[in-house]
Amino acid sequence: MAHISASVYTSHVPAIGAALDLGKTADPYWVPLFKGYEPTKQWFKENTPDVIFLVYNDHATAFSLDMIPTFAIGCADEFKPADEGWGPRPVPVVKGHPELAAHIAQSVIQDDFDLTIVNKMDVDHGLTVPLNLVTGQPDAWPCPVIPFAVNVVQYPVPSGRRCFMLGKAIRKAIESFDAPLNVQIWGTGGMSHQLQGPRAGLINREWDNQFLDDLIADPDALSKKPHIEYVREAGSEGIELVMWLIARGAMSDKAPTVKHRFYHVPASNTAVGHLILENHP
Ligand code: DHB
Ligand code: FE
Repeated sequence: MAHISASVYTSHVPAIGAALDLGKTADPYWVPLFKGYEPTKQWFKENTPDVIFLVYNDHATAFSLDMIPTFAIGCADEFKPADEGWGPRPVPVVKGHPELAAHIAQSVIQDDFDLTIVNKMDVDHGLTVPLNLVTGQPDAWPCPVIPFAVNVVQYPVPSGRRCFMLGKAIRKAIESFDAPLNVQIWGTGGMSHQLQGPRAGLINREWDNQFLDDLIADPDALSKKPHIEYVREAGSEGIELVMWLIARGAMSDKAPTVKHRFYHVPASNTAVGHLILENHP
């Protein structure tokens, strides 16, 4: 049977993608950020999974205000980097895992969670920047990726609790897939940031670090945090953090091993947080 070996959490920021694509990673502004991901890249080399289940949000790139699924699972053979306004990022095409994705869709939908099946979709910085941060800048991504898009852009957004419970259903689905696959689940987006309005630029270090503590040690209590608290304390885009609860919900009930923890401000307008948790089934 397939199993979940680890979960990885990381912010996404389009400017990180631009720094990579334009060869600016050695600029003093970016050095501390990329340094924080050096242990991650080493860990990933030693722990490359067969498949990554990557929870992320689309930024009105593949979807638009015409149609906004709350939870969408990518079941295609491949997903192309999206044109986000400056042309597509020069990164590899993302290869999917249609068989596992279809199995997860079947299991999770029968477990009462509504997923939208997506058979054609481009993927934006929400997915490609985390892939670069963890795997570097390879010519081809090191393994297949199942993109799982969550609406955190247009209200109403899903609650942390629902995301956490969905994670549990995803775990059950993966563990019932009849092939010995090593699967990692990634939760991306966050941490505190607000891109618009009078509070643009908001960062809340204390709240972010408490979130990391709670995500490690008491995710069940954390999942009950109401969405208004994310917005108030972590800014309008801080709500992206509910996606981390999907990955955490997919982990076993035993305490995980913290392999790496990193927090850095600033990266564009965003507080960057990052965790690697190994799973003990
Ligand atoms: C920034 C952060 C995001 O999450 C995003 O989607 C776009 C921009 C930023 O910090 O600039
Ligand atoms: Fe974002």
